Amino acid sequence: MRDLTDINTRSWTVATAPGRLPVLGHAVPLRRAPLEFLTSLSQHGDLVRLDLGRHPAYMVCHKDLVSQVLRDPRTFDWGGPFYEKTKLLMGNTLGNCPYRDHRRMRRLVQPSFRLSRIASYSKVMHDELAAEMDTWRPGGTVELNDTLHAVTARVGAKVLMSTDIAGDAVEQILSCLPIVMDGMYRRVVAPWAGLYRLPTPGNRRFEAARTQLRDLVHGIIAEYRRAGVDHGDLMSGLLSAHDEESDTALTDVEVHDMVMNFLAAATETTATALCWALYELDRNRECERRLHAEADRLAGTDDLSTLTYTRQVINETLRLYPPGWMMTRIVSEDTSLAGHPLPAGTILVYSSYALQRDPRMFPDADRFDPDRWLSDRAAEVPPGAMIPFGSGSRKCIGDNFAMMETVLSLTQIAARWSLRLVPGTKVRAEPRALVAMGPLPMVTHPRRATTRQEAA
Ligand code: HEM
Repeated sequence: MRDLTDINTRSWTVATAPGRLPVLGHAVPLRRAPLEFLTSLSQHGDLVRLDLGRHPAYMVCHKDLVSQVLRDPRTFDWGGPFYEKTKLLMGNTLGNCPYRDHRRMRRLVQPSFRLSRIASYSKVMHDELAAEMDTWRPGGTVELNDTLHAVTARVGAKVLMSTDIAGDAVEQILSCLPIVMDGMYRRVVAPWAGLYRLPTPGNRRFEAARTQLRDLVHGIIAEYRRAGVDHGDLMSGLLSAHDEESDTALTDVEVHDMVMNFLAAATETTATALCWALYELDRNRECERRLHAEADRLAGTDDLSTLTYTRQVINETLRLYPPGWMMTRIVSEDTSLAGHPLPAGTILVYSSYALQRDPRMFPDADRFDPDRWLSDRAAEVPPGAMIPFGSGSRKCIGDNFAMMETVLSLTQIAARWSLRLVPGTKVRAEPRALVAMGPLPMVTHPRRATTRQEAA
């Protein structure tokens, strides 16, 4: 067993990933089975070199090295070949800015995400999901992936802009957003950027939606500024934020970019987590029974601390299906990691997906087992092994928001419905910008609440 006390004096294994081809690098395994490939790399070393097309990179496989990278954002700065393209949608904002801009931005945005502020959003979450479930019919089929994406997008937009000021603009934003998100993903993975400058109908649609989205959000910002009142929503929080250290506030462009960052970050992540949870519950009926029992006992609560089992289910879902399968950092100055020299400009990759499926950290790692998060067992999980929200100064700013939305939504669905996958459906993780999933058609069976006796 290794000495875990000092990261600098330990002996680490540095290796090259197998399957490298001349010119193509590791493009073939990365394209064919990216999640399996990345997850397998820890067998080869703690720091493993892989070639992303023309870009040499290192995958950081050991949790302690990942912690070291995430705790030192000055040396291991935000960046990488794919994520630069996010600037198309959100300029230079909290989620994609370099270290030099990050601290000021984080100080300005953090107060809007305080627990006391986000607690009031639970009603929006509840009402949007209730309205959607009211359209479900006993024995009907719902394509859950699109449905929950639409619900979380509505929640995100309404929590941002809760007032009549936003009015119809919110609906228009919601219709532009999927076009822009999809177009952005295509541009991120495009082998040849020039493709997306051609005047094709798809490219024109993307540019039109992007321009419309920008104009709509700037229009709303202008209206909020004119009204000058705190409406208790996120937009008001961003507009009134003031950073004492730099004596600055967010400019209109910065507020616009933050709104885009928020909408992009808040929709896909929570919707996908809910889909995976419901998919696993259908496959694990005893877990479903316990979840239903808790939902029946605590129907209508918005107190997360009481929803113990529901939180365990969400934790276990985020362990097996965290959205971040391939996060990157750029080395900003010559340094070393795992005793290996890394020149400035080196790309580092970390994957919470791979880390959280490491059998050395999680026995029977591929099994969906919410009881891992019972307090005594959770205490045995080594620090740094479970990081679905990242860690360090760039840890997800929406973590409490996401937990609130996923836990409350899951218990709200569980109180009314049992969902069964349409037989024959093949469901698999699809590594896109985040770990996504394809269509999830499920049959909706209404439930009768279990009695208190059954629930006990
Ligand atoms: C299940 C839901 C979610 C998961 C698992 C998740 C995960 C993450 C992760 C892993 C990071 C760090 C990425 C890195 O290391 O480069 C991150 C950053 C971020 N997330 Fe989330 N996220 C979720 C939901 C949300 C929501 C709901 C919001 C907004 C309300 C949000 C806003 C952000 C922002 C703004 C950042 C950048 C933070 C910074 O750099 O300071 N996320 N998220």
